[in-house]
Amino acid sequence: MALFEWKDSFSVGIGSIDEDHKGLINIINELFDAVSHGVAKEHISSDLAKLVDYTKTHFKREEIFFEKTNYPLLEEHKLQHDVFIKKINNLQKDFEKGNQTISVELLKFLTDWLVNHILSSDRKYKEHFQRYRLT
Ligand code: FEO
Repeated sequence: MALFEWKDSFSVGIGSIDEDHKGLINIINELFDAVSHGVAKEHISSDLAKLVDYTKTHFKREEIFFEKTNYPLLEEHKLQHDVFIKKINNLQKDFEKGNQTISVELLKFLTDWLVNHILSSDRKYKEHFQRYRLT
């Protein structure tokens, strides 16, 4: 069972970004599956590393688009990205040191953050990006 399912209503109208968002949700669902089945720490560690890398790649893609198109909300949007990256970097470090467990509650928190970010902040660039015919 997945923690969260993608809905077409989450689309921001840019194919590459929608695919990134679906990918992020898939990784969180993989982590949820792993945590729910009590799999080995190494497996969770690998999924967590995938989440951190994928998130950084995705945020970078949006930020490159922001710069290319002079997006007016670049700074405030990037700040949200930076805060989230810091959070998951710390989470990963603490997990590797054995100071943090990955719980279902924590995964729900990450999912809620991501979905709220897509539906509020990411949605705001939809029309702006579409004017530049980004794909
Ligand atoms: Fe899709 Fe701003 O993250």
